[in-house]
Amino acid sequence: MNPDAVRTVAVLGAGTMGNGIAHVFARCGYSVILRDVEQQFLDRALETISKNLDREIKKGKIAEAAKSPVLASIVPVTKIEEIARADFAIEAVPEQLDLKRTVLREADRVLRPEAILATNTSSISVTELAAATQRPDRFIGMHFMNPVPVMPLVEVIRALQTSNDTFETTMKLCEKLEKKPVAVTDSPGFVSNRVLMPLINEAAFCVMESVAAPEAVDAVMKLGMNHPMGPLELADFIGLDICLDVMEVLFEGFGDPKFRPCPLLKKMVSAGWLGKKSGRGFYVYGGK
Ligand SMILES: NC(=O)c1ccc[n+]([C@@H]2O[C@H](COP(=O)([O-])OP(=O)(O)OC[C@H]3O[C@@H](n4cnc5c(N)ncnc54)[C@H](O)[C@@H]3O)[C@@H](O)[C@H]2O)c1
Repeated sequence: MNPDAVRTVAVLGAGTMGNGIAHVFARCGYSVILRDVEQQFLDRALETISKNLDREIKKGKIAEAAKSPVLASIVPVTKIEEIARADFAIEAVPEQLDLKRTVLREADRVLRPEAILATNTSSISVTELAAATQRPDRFIGMHFMNPVPVMPLVEVIRALQTSNDTFETTMKLCEKLEKKPVAVTDSPGFVSNRVLMPLINEAAFCVMESVAAPEAVDAVMKLGMNHPMGPLELADFIGLDICLDVMEVLFEGFGDPKFRPCPLLKKMVSAGWLGKKSGRGFYVYGGK
C-alpha cells in the first residue's frame, strides 16, 4: 500500500497509549476513528488529548488555532463496525493474549482486505498475533513509547509473516508522523524491553541484596551513566507489575536463567506495591 493512500486510521483502545497514538495521527492531519468499549473511556481520552494539545500549544509545538480541527478529526466510536473505512488500524488494548486475539479478529473481520493491522503490544509475539488474523502478511508491530506525543521512537516489529510492502508502508507512515522508526524482528521483548527490563531487574537485585538503597542505585545510573531517570524511578513510573510481566515473558521466551525475575520485584507486586500508580513502589508517592 502506498503510505500516501493512508488517510483514515483506526485506534483500538483509548487508554494511555491509544489516546497518545490518536493524538499524534490527528495532529499530523489524519482522520482518526478511536474505538473503546464504553463512551466514558472515550470521553476521558478526548479530555486527555485536549490537555496534551494545550501543553503543546504552550510549548509552541502547534498553533492555538490548530487545536479545534485536530480534536474534530478524532471520531470516538464504541462499535467495531464503525472502523470499517480505516486504511490502517492500530490495536492498543490491555496486554492480554486472549483479549488481543479477540479484538484483532473483530477488526480483521470488518476492515477492508487491503488495510494494514498493527499491534502496539510491548511483549506478546507479533507472529502469534498475526496468525490470529486472516491478513498475516498485512500485520505488523508498532511499539510506540509512553508518552506517545513526546517520545520519538517507534519500534517497528516484523512478524515472520509480515510482507515487505506492509513493512515499508509502516516505516514511511512513522516518518510522516514525525517519529523515528527502528526496525526489529519479532523476538521476546523486542529490543526495548529485552535491554531495559533486565537493567531494572538487576537494580532490584542490588536493593534486595542490600548493595545499595534505591536512591543510591538511581544516583549511580543518573550521575555516572547520564541516564535521565534512575532504573528504579523508571520502574515505579512504568508499574512494577508490568516490569514483572515482561521479565516473565523474557524468562519463558528464552528459557535462559539470566532473565530470572528478581524475588523482591515479585514480593512487591504481591504486596500491591506497583509504583507510582499505587502510591508505593521503590519510592513512596503522594504522602501514602
Ligand atoms: N503504558 C505503557 O507505557 C505502554 C508502552 C508501550 C506499549 N504499551 C502497550 O500498549 C497496550 C495498551 O496499554 P495501555 O497502557 O494504553 O493500556 P490501558 O489500560 O491504559 O488502555 C487500554 C484501553 O483499552 C480498552 N479496551 C479494552 N477492551 C477493548 C476492546 N475490546 N476494544 C477496544 N478497547 C478496549 C480499555 O477500556 C482501555 O481504555 C498494551 O499492549 C501495552 O503493553 C503500553
